Amino acid sequence: MRALEELRSEALGCTRCALAAQRTQVVFGTGDPSADLMLVGEGPGRDEDLAGEPFVGRSGKLLETLVAQEIGLARSSCYIANVVKCRPPSNRDPLPEEVEACRPFLEAQIELVAPRVVVTLGNFASRLLLGTTEGITRLRGRSYQLPNLGVHLVPTYHPAAALRAGATVLAGMRADLVRAKMLLDGAS
Ligand code: URA
Repeated sequence: MRALEELRSEALGCTRCALAAQRTQVVFGTGDPSADLMLVGEGPGRDEDLAGEPFVGRSGKLLETLVAQEIGLARSSCYIANVVKCRPPSNRDPLPEEVEACRPFLEAQIELVAPRVVVTLGNFASRLLLGTTEGITRLRGRSYQLPNLGVHLVPTYHPAAALRAGATVLAGMRADLVRAKMLLDGAS
């Protein structure tokens, strides 16, 4: 696990993009460093910037509940990270140059944790890891293989969208997490 800790140290001092100037803390990632399931969000919000940990606010509580109910895994058994590790001011979308600057950290996290399944939450993580500009509504509902790594990728909605949009999005998220569980259980 040394390599992941080294990567974290590097990230904590990162000034590769303008987000560094306004952060309270770098939100590198958290959880089991050899997890089978990795969850990837967009970027830290206010709560995460203060806590230094991803998905600790309302979205995180919903995510935790859904993963426990549909997959049977506790938060501590997963690895959780974001596309960008520093909070975009006022929770704006991360800019393309910010996503690009941070991409090597996420790619290295995936390589080092080497999960069996990555669940991408929302447009930013799904588009980045699938290398597409397609939206989440079209991308979700099936699984993909991450090139070279033998990792399954399951795109789903961001939990903030489920909090905003309600029952249909929530049902879609549940279905996607069931798909992730099947893949974790050995289906291909
Ligand atoms: N939303 C995200 O995408 N990531 C977090 O860590 C929190 C909210």
